[in-house]
Amino acid sequence: MKRVFSGIQPTGEIHIGNYFGAILNYVKLGEELGKNSIYCIVDYHAITIPHEPELLRKRTFDAALVNMAAGLDPSKVILFAQSDVREHTELGWIFSTQTPLGDLERMTQFKDKSSQHSVLAGLLMYPTLMAADILLYKANTVPVGEDQVQHIELTREIARRFNNRFGELFPEPLAVHNKDALRVPGVDGQGKMSKSKGNTLGVLEEIDSIWQKLRVAPTDPARVRRTDPGNPHICLIFDYHKLFSDLDTIQMVEVGCSTAGIGCIDCKKTLMKGVERTLVPIQQRAQELYSTPDIVKDALHEGAREARQIAQQTMQEVRDALGL
Ligand code: ADP
Ligand code: NA
Repeated sequence: MKRVFSGIQPTGEIHIGNYFGAILNYVKLGEELGKNSIYCIVDYHAITIPHEPELLRKRTFDAALVNMAAGLDPSKVILFAQSDVREHTELGWIFSTQTPLGDLERMTQFKDKSSQHSVLAGLLMYPTLMAADILLYKANTVPVGEDQVQHIELTREIARRFNNRFGELFPEPLAVHNKDALRVPGVDGQGKMSKSKGNTLGVLEEIDSIWQKLRVAPTDPARVRRTDPGNPHICLIFDYHKLFSDLDTIQMVEVGCSTAGIGCIDCKKTLMKGVERTLVPIQQRAQELYSTPDIVKDALHEGAREARQIAQQTMQEVRDALGL
C-alpha cells in the first residue's frame, strides 16, 4: 500500500516554488490515493525560528487555503494542522532520544538557518520532528523539493535504527519529486526560492506585483544589447517559462533568445501570459474561500480528526515497543 505524507511550513506566503515543487504533486497523488495522501501545515516547525503568534495563526490558515485553492480537495485527502495532533511532538521527542547529536548538527538546513537566527534547540531537532511527522502515518512516499532530500535520508535512518532496536514498525520512506521543479530559483537569481529569503513570487500575489518583480529580474548577464544573442539555459526567466508556458512558447523563446530574435522584456511579457493563466484561477478560488473561511476551518478540523486516528494507533504501538 502506498501512503504519502508531506508538510508545508506556515512561515510566509506560499510561493511558486512550493506550488510547482510540492503542491502540484499533492493534488496528483491525492487523486490517486485518496485518504492515503496526508498533508500537514507544520506549525510546530514554524516556531523553530522567532515568530509572532497572530501572524502564525493567519499563515497556518492561509497555507491550508492556498492548497485548497490550488486544487487539493480536503474531502478526498487528509489536510490538517500539525499542532492539532499532539502525537507529532510525542514521537518527535522519542526520536530525539534515539538520534545521535552529530546527525542533527551536520544537516545543511540547520547550518544555513543557524547562521541567520539565534539558534534555538528546536531548530536542531527539526529533523527528528519531521521524521515523526512522516512515520506517525507510516508513510512510504514523501513528495518534496530537492531541499528536503537530506532530511528524508535521516528519516530513513531513524526508521531503520528504531526497527532494528525495537522491532519492525516503520517503513523507510522515499522522497519523490516533480522533476521539472526540483529547485525553483528565486526571483533575485540567487539560488532557491524560499519564504525566508524574500525572493518569492507568491501564488496569491497580485499579477502586477509579480510583473514588477519579473521586469527587473536578472537575465543572461552577457546579453547587454537587444541584438546580443542570449543563453536561455542560464536564464532565470527561461526556467520560469518551463514551469508556466506551453511547449510551443518554450521552444519559441529558446530559439528567439539564442538568436536575438526576441528581447528580454518581450520574453518576460510572454512569460506573464502563462503566469496569469496559471495563477488567476487559483487566486479566484482563494477569494471565494476567504469569503467563506468556515470551509477552510471545518476542513482542518475534520482533517485533524482523521489524522489523529492513525497517529494514536501508531503511538500505541510505539509505546508498547519502548516499554512506556
Ligand atoms: P520554504 O523553503 O519556502 O519555507 P517549505 O520548507 O515550507 O518551503 O517547503 C514546502 C515544500 O515546498 C517542500 O516540499 C519543499 O521541498 C518545497 N519547496 C520549497 N521551496 C522550493 C523550491 N524553490 N523549489 C521546489 N520545491 C520547493
Ligand atoms: Na524548505
